[in-house]
Amino acid sequence: MKYLIWANFKMNKSTKELKEYLEVFKSKYACFLHIDLMIAPVTSGLWIASELLEWSCINLWSQNMYFEESWAYTWEISPSMLNELNCTYVIIWHSERRQYFNETNEFINKKVKAAISHRIRPILCIWESLEQKNKWLTKEVLKIQLIEGLWWVEDVSKVDIAYEPVWAIGTWETATPEYIEEIHDYIRELVWNDESRIIYGWSVKPDNSKQLISIKNVNWFLVWSASLDPESFLKIAEVE
Ligand code: 13P
Repeated sequence: MKYLIWANFKMNKSTKELKEYLEVFKSKYACFLHIDLMIAPVTSGLWIASELLEWSCINLWSQNMYFEESWAYTWEISPSMLNELNCTYVIIWHSERRQYFNETNEFINKKVKAAISHRIRPILCIWESLEQKNKWLTKEVLKIQLIEGLWWVEDVSKVDIAYEPVWAIGTWETATPEYIEEIHDYIRELVWNDESRIIYGWSVKPDNSKQLISIKNVNWFLVWSASLDPESFLKIAEVE
């Protein structure tokens, strides 16, 4: 199986910085045999990144999208606009979208369906808070998020799931390997197919990526802070 490592730049890197990053990155990146690297710049950088990455084996994906095609939706980007930019994946319901932008479950479910119908693979993020974890509610919370996010999605194998243990926020801690394995196994049971990838998305760093990739049902990473520097992002990819 091919591992996939996603860089989510969040709201970082101006177009100039992005261009510099991609140039350094392309000069050092020789295609890994078992690994695909994906980069999600801020929306303003999608066009330049799409041009710069056109002939490379680095793929482009989007941090978000709206579910409608066009109309009066200030600041939004539609699925077919992402098709034009060669974005093959989109992240949906990142914990920050829920925490700071109040995206509801119903809203998210429409995005998942719109992405699939435009041949863009959605990555649905799920997570529990520290309070929920301490009350042993993790599995229940994740199950509800999956049910609501995937409501009436005909083919769940067209969706990937990212697990973000956000309670480790602001630390250089990760969940323990045993904890991650238990949760990833549980998610695998819930999605009921082998094609949905279950992505681990918190505090992945060059010094823990090898250990994390060896955990059962962890094949992909979603990385923010350690992806902002091209050298550090490439070191994470040296798991093969
Ligand atoms: P870090 O990689 O900095 O822990 O961020 C995780 C994340 O939010 C990925 O989208």
